[in-house]
Amino acid sequence: MQDASKDFWNSRWETGQTGWDIGAPAPAFTTYFSDFSQKNAAILIPGCGSGHEAEFLLSIGFTNITVIDIAPKAVAILNEKFRSNPNITILCNDFFQHEGSYDYIVEQTFFCAIDPDHREAYAQQTHDLLRPKGKIIAILFDRSFEGGPPYGGSKEEYIQLFTTKFNILFIEANQQSIPQRMGSELFGVFEKK
Ligand SMILES: C[S@@+](CC[C@H](N)C(=O)[O-])C[C@H]1O[C@@H](n2cnc3c(N)ncnc32)[C@H](O)[C@@H]1O
Repeated sequence: MQDASKDFWNSRWETGQTGWDIGAPAPAFTTYFSDFSQKNAAILIPGCGSGHEAEFLLSIGFTNITVIDIAPKAVAILNEKFRSNPNITILCNDFFQHEGSYDYIVEQTFFCAIDPDHREAYAQQTHDLLRPKGKIIAILFDRSFEGGPPYGGSKEEYIQLFTTKFNILFIEANQQSIPQRMGSELFGVFEKK
Protein backbone atom coordinates (compact mmCIF):
# COMPACT_ATOMS: atom_id res chain seq x y z
CA MET A 1 0.00 0.00 0.00
CA GLN A 2 2.69 2.46 0.94
CA ASP A 3 4.40 3.00 -2.42
CA ALA A 4 1.26 3.57 -4.49
CA SER A 5 -0.15 5.84 -1.83
CA LYS A 6 3.10 7.73 -1.46
CA ASP A 7 3.39 8.35 -5.20
CA PHE A 8 -0.25 9.41 -5.48
CA TRP A 9 -0.07 11.92 -2.63
CA ASN A 10 3.36 13.21 -3.53
CA SER A 11 2.24 13.98 -7.06
CA ARG A 12 -0.71 15.93 -5.63
CA TRP A 13 1.76 17.99 -3.62
CA GLU A 14 4.22 18.38 -6.49
CA THR A 15 1.49 19.65 -8.82
CA GLY A 16 -0.18 21.88 -6.24
CA GLN A 17 -3.45 19.93 -6.19
CA THR A 18 -4.09 20.55 -2.52
CA GLY A 19 -7.66 21.82 -2.60
CA TRP A 20 -8.31 20.25 0.79
CA ASP A 21 -6.06 22.80 2.48
CA ILE A 22 -8.18 25.42 4.27
CA GLY A 23 -5.16 27.68 4.76
CA ALA A 24 -5.54 27.94 8.53
CA PRO A 25 -6.11 25.74 11.56
CA ALA A 26 -9.69 24.46 11.75
CA PRO A 27 -11.59 26.63 14.28
CA ALA A 28 -12.99 23.60 16.14
CA PHE A 29 -9.42 22.61 17.07
CA THR A 30 -8.31 26.10 18.07
CA THR A 31 -11.31 26.32 20.40
CA TYR A 32 -10.74 22.82 21.79
CA PHE A 33 -7.05 23.28 22.57
CA SER A 34 -7.01 26.98 23.52
CA ASP A 35 -7.70 26.46 27.22
CA PHE A 36 -5.39 23.51 27.75
CA SER A 37 -2.88 23.98 30.54
CA GLN A 38 -1.03 20.70 29.89
CA LYS A 39 1.22 22.13 27.21
CA ASN A 40 3.57 19.13 27.22
CA ALA A 41 0.80 16.77 26.07
CA ALA A 42 2.08 14.48 23.30
CA ILE A 43 0.03 15.30 20.20
CA LEU A 44 0.19 13.43 16.89
CA ILE A 45 -1.18 14.89 13.66
CA PRO A 46 -1.24 12.19 10.94
CA GLY A 47 -1.53 13.13 7.27
CA CYS A 48 -0.87 16.67 8.45
CA GLY A 49 -0.34 18.32 5.06
CA SER A 50 0.73 21.95 5.52
CA GLY A 51 0.63 21.64 9.30
CA HIS A 52 -1.70 24.52 10.14
CA GLU A 53 -2.90 22.80 13.32
CA ALA A 54 0.69 22.14 14.41
CA GLU A 55 1.57 25.77 13.78
CA PHE A 56 -1.33 26.88 15.95
CA LEU A 57 -0.48 24.47 18.79
CA LEU A 58 3.15 25.62 18.80
CA SER A 59 2.02 29.26 18.82
CA ILE A 60 0.07 28.74 22.05
CA GLY A 61 2.93 26.96 23.76
CA PHE A 62 2.58 23.23 23.13
CA THR A 63 5.97 21.56 23.29
CA ASN A 64 5.50 17.98 22.12
CA ILE A 65 3.97 17.88 18.65
CA THR A 66 4.59 15.12 16.09
CA VAL A 67 3.43 15.43 12.49
CA ILE A 68 3.55 12.68 9.88
CA ASP A 69 2.95 12.84 6.17
CA ILE A 70 3.70 10.20 3.57
CA ALA A 71 4.48 12.72 0.82
CA PRO A 72 8.13 13.86 0.69
CA LYS A 73 7.11 17.16 -0.92
CA ALA A 74 4.73 17.96 1.96
CA VAL A 75 7.45 17.07 4.45
CA ALA A 76 9.96 19.32 2.66
CA ILE A 77 7.48 22.19 3.10
CA LEU A 78 7.04 21.30 6.77
CA ASN A 79 10.78 21.13 7.35
CA GLU A 80 11.17 24.59 5.89
CA LYS A 81 8.23 25.98 7.86
CA PHE A 82 9.24 24.59 11.25
CA ARG A 83 12.99 24.76 10.74
CA SER A 84 14.93 24.00 13.93
CA ASN A 85 11.86 24.19 16.18
CA PRO A 86 12.63 21.76 19.02
CA ASN A 87 8.96 21.38 19.96
CA ILE A 88 7.93 19.54 16.82
CA THR A 89 9.00 16.22 15.29
CA ILE A 90 8.41 15.97 11.54
CA LEU A 91 8.24 12.48 10.05
CA CYS A 92 8.00 11.40 6.43
CA ASN A 93 6.34 8.06 6.97
CA ASP A 94 3.25 5.94 6.49
CA PHE A 95 0.95 6.53 9.45
CA PHE A 96 0.09 2.83 9.51
CA GLN A 97 3.78 1.95 10.07
CA HIS A 98 4.34 4.52 12.79
CA GLU A 99 5.13 3.52 16.37
CA GLY A 100 4.76 5.89 19.28
CA SER A 101 2.76 6.90 22.32
CA TYR A 102 0.50 9.96 22.42
CA ASP A 103 -2.08 11.74 24.56
CA TYR A 104 -3.99 13.13 21.57
CA ILE A 105 -4.37 12.43 17.89
CA VAL A 106 -5.71 15.33 15.81
CA GLU A 107 -7.71 14.18 12.78
CA GLN A 108 -8.49 16.53 9.94
CA THR A 109 -9.10 15.24 6.38
CA PHE A 110 -6.69 12.34 6.80
CA PHE A 111 -9.29 9.69 7.64
CA CYS A 112 -11.24 10.70 4.51
CA ALA A 113 -8.07 10.39 2.43
CA ILE A 114 -7.43 6.74 3.18
CA ASP A 115 -9.12 3.90 1.37
CA PRO A 116 -12.31 2.87 3.23
CA ASP A 117 -10.89 -0.67 3.34
CA HIS A 118 -8.29 0.69 5.78
CA ARG A 119 -10.74 2.24 8.23
CA GLU A 120 -10.59 -0.70 10.65
CA ALA A 121 -6.80 -0.46 10.50
CA TYR A 122 -7.07 3.27 11.24
CA ALA A 123 -9.19 2.57 14.34
CA GLN A 124 -6.69 -0.07 15.47
CA GLN A 125 -3.63 2.08 14.77
CA THR A 126 -5.01 5.15 16.55
CA HIS A 127 -5.89 2.90 19.50
CA ASP A 128 -2.37 1.41 19.52
CA LEU A 129 -0.72 4.84 19.37
CA LEU A 130 -2.71 6.40 22.22
CA ARG A 131 -1.88 6.14 25.89
CA PRO A 132 -4.59 4.96 28.29
CA LYS A 133 -7.48 7.46 28.13
CA GLY A 134 -5.80 9.13 25.15
CA LYS A 135 -8.15 10.86 22.74
CA ILE A 136 -8.76 11.34 19.06
CA ILE A 137 -9.97 14.89 18.41
CA ALA A 138 -11.57 14.65 14.99
CA ILE A 139 -13.27 16.58 12.27
CA LEU A 140 -14.96 14.03 9.99
CA PHE A 141 -17.09 14.46 6.91
CA ASP A 142 -20.83 13.92 7.29
CA ARG A 143 -21.57 13.44 3.62
CA SER A 144 -20.78 11.13 0.72
CA PHE A 145 -18.59 11.87 -2.31
CA GLU A 146 -18.52 10.58 -5.87
CA GLY A 147 -15.45 8.36 -6.07
CA GLY A 148 -12.65 9.43 -3.81
CA PRO A 149 -10.49 10.47 -2.13
CA PRO A 150 -12.04 12.10 -0.25
CA TYR A 151 -14.25 9.29 0.98
CA GLY A 152 -17.26 10.29 3.02
CA GLY A 153 -19.09 8.86 5.98
CA SER A 154 -21.79 9.45 8.56
CA LYS A 155 -22.15 9.74 12.32
CA GLU A 156 -23.62 6.23 12.49
CA GLU A 157 -20.70 4.73 10.55
CA TYR A 158 -18.13 6.44 12.74
CA ILE A 159 -19.85 5.35 15.95
CA GLN A 160 -19.98 1.78 14.66
CA LEU A 161 -16.32 1.85 13.63
CA PHE A 162 -14.83 3.40 16.77
CA THR A 163 -17.13 2.20 19.53
CA THR A 164 -15.44 -1.14 20.23
CA LYS A 165 -12.11 0.55 20.99
CA PHE A 166 -13.14 4.05 22.09
CA ASN A 167 -15.68 5.77 24.31
CA ILE A 168 -17.44 8.22 22.05
CA LEU A 169 -17.42 11.25 24.33
CA PHE A 170 -18.90 13.54 21.74
CA ILE A 171 -19.82 13.53 18.06
CA GLU A 172 -22.03 16.29 16.74
CA ALA A 173 -22.35 18.64 13.78
CA ASN A 174 -19.30 20.87 13.64
CA GLN A 175 -20.61 24.30 14.59
CA GLN A 176 -17.34 25.92 13.56
CA SER A 177 -16.88 24.55 10.05
CA ILE A 178 -15.53 26.90 7.44
CA PRO A 179 -18.40 28.23 5.26
CA GLN A 180 -17.67 25.84 2.35
CA ARG A 181 -17.99 22.82 4.68
CA MET A 182 -20.75 24.06 7.01
CA GLY A 183 -23.38 21.35 7.45
CA SER A 184 -21.14 18.61 6.08
CA GLU A 185 -18.78 17.97 9.00
CA LEU A 186 -18.89 16.39 12.44
CA PHE A 187 -16.69 17.22 15.39
CA GLY A 188 -15.89 14.27 17.64
CA VAL A 189 -13.87 13.32 20.71
CA PHE A 190 -13.14 9.60 21.16
CA GLU A 191 -11.38 8.32 24.27
CA LYS A 192 -9.33 5.12 24.17
CA LYS A 193 -10.98 2.31 26.12
C1 LIG B 1 -6.44 15.35 2.13
S1 LIG B 1 -4.83 15.67 2.69
C2 LIG B 1 -5.11 16.49 4.23
C3 LIG B 1 -3.95 17.29 4.73
C4 LIG B 1 -4.21 18.06 6.05
N1 LIG B 1 -4.67 17.17 7.10
C5 LIG B 1 -5.21 19.15 5.82
O1 LIG B 1 -6.33 19.07 6.35
O2 LIG B 1 -4.87 20.13 5.13
C6 LIG B 1 -4.27 14.07 3.18
C7 LIG B 1 -2.81 14.07 3.57
O3 LIG B 1 -2.48 12.76 4.08
C8 LIG B 1 -1.24 12.35 3.55
N2 LIG B 1 -1.28 10.88 3.59
C9 LIG B 1 -2.00 10.04 2.81
N3 LIG B 1 -1.82 8.77 3.17
C10 LIG B 1 -0.96 8.78 4.21
C11 LIG B 1 -0.40 7.78 5.05
N4 LIG B 1 -0.69 6.48 4.87
N5 LIG B 1 0.43 8.16 6.05
C12 LIG B 1 0.74 9.47 6.25
N6 LIG B 1 0.23 10.48 5.48
C13 LIG B 1 -0.60 10.14 4.48
C14 LIG B 1 -1.17 12.98 2.18
O4 LIG B 1 0.14 13.13 1.69
C15 LIG B 1 -1.86 14.33 2.42
O5 LIG B 1 -0.93 15.33 2.77
